[in-house]
Amino acid sequence: MKIACLAGDGIGPEIMVEAKKVLAALAIDGVTTADADVGGTAYRKHGHPLPPETLALCEASDAILFGAVGDPGCDNLERHLRPEQAILGLRQALTLFANLRPATMFAGLEDLSALRPEVAREIDLLIVRELNGDVYFGEKAIRVLDDGRRQGFDFMSYAEDEVRRIAHVGFRAAQGRKGRLCSVDKANVLETSQLWRDVVIEVSAEYPDVELSHMYVDNAAMQLVRNPGQFDVVVTGNLFGDILSDQASMCVGSIGLLASASLGERQTQYGTLGLYEPIHGSAPDIAGQGKANPMAMILSLAMLLRHSLGLEAEAARVEAAVARALADGVKGADLGGSATCAEIGDAVAARL
Ligand code: IPM
Ligand code: MG
Repeated sequence: MKIACLAGDGIGPEIMVEAKKVLAALAIDGVTTADADVGGTAYRKHGHPLPPETLALCEASDAILFGAVGDPGCDNLERHLRPEQAILGLRQALTLFANLRPATMFAGLEDLSALRPEVAREIDLLIVRELNGDVYFGEKAIRVLDDGRRQGFDFMSYAEDEVRRIAHVGFRAAQGRKGRLCSVDKANVLETSQLWRDVVIEVSAEYPDVELSHMYVDNAAMQLVRNPGQFDVVVTGNLFGDILSDQASMCVGSIGLLASASLGERQTQYGTLGLYEPIHGSAPDIAGQGKANPMAMILSLAMLLRHSLGLEAEAARVEAAVARALADGVKGADLGGSATCAEIGDAVAARL
């Protein structure tokens, strides 16, 4: 079982160390890891945020554990050389179109949520975000109009097969949970969303056991803070899913707690090829100070064990160890505590 480890920029390397610590503590037979450069770090060393050797390593692996990319020093580079292009490039090259972003309240953290504890307590949802289409990958440019004004544009589109395959992921996820799927769009304004909604309704015929609802994205943003407990599985496009998943993280208490899996259709010997990363970014302001919370990274490792290596029992053990550490009061600065990144990793490993 081969895991490619791409630590990346900012806090990426320090949280990766802690995830590897937890992996080592599990002592699973036959797992190997290999490191490769990505993001701004890779640009500085190799002149490209996603060097060919990094992509080759990922293609030859069963799973990819990904830290974070983003480096303010690279913000003025041409767009195709910016660190973010590494993660977008990997999602595209490996056709990782389904992004699973679970948000569940941890017992004892209700007071840290941006919401009232009695509202926060009910959070147990999964955002299924499409990752290969939408305004992210359409034609884009800043051009000069005939009258000399500059205009920026980004082409938003979804083809029906792209909507269909992510809809299936959403429905199947709902079947494995509470049986409710909420499709989020902006069909009152966007044609892209109208097609999205039409296709989701078509696909729903194959899932009579799932209760389907639709919500406009503005309303969804509001409902997510008014009553997040109403959601089971949310399926949505690339841009809306990006925004709503960050919002969901603060409902849970910290963006340092939310993991994600990006999956496609490629099967490996042990499960589905996938990329696993915290939903937070590289946090350059706190990089290298031991202040990062590695829990999202460690929970991403748990998702990797489950989806790509078929190791459900080990995945559940890691998740239980994180929950236990939190319940025991092991908290980083993001949660109002003082545990360092390494101490949090040690605490989780000890609880395994
Ligand atoms: C995420 C991030 C990325 C995205 C960035 C880094 C390109 O915000 O994974 O949510 O927008 O998808
Ligand atoms: Mg994001």
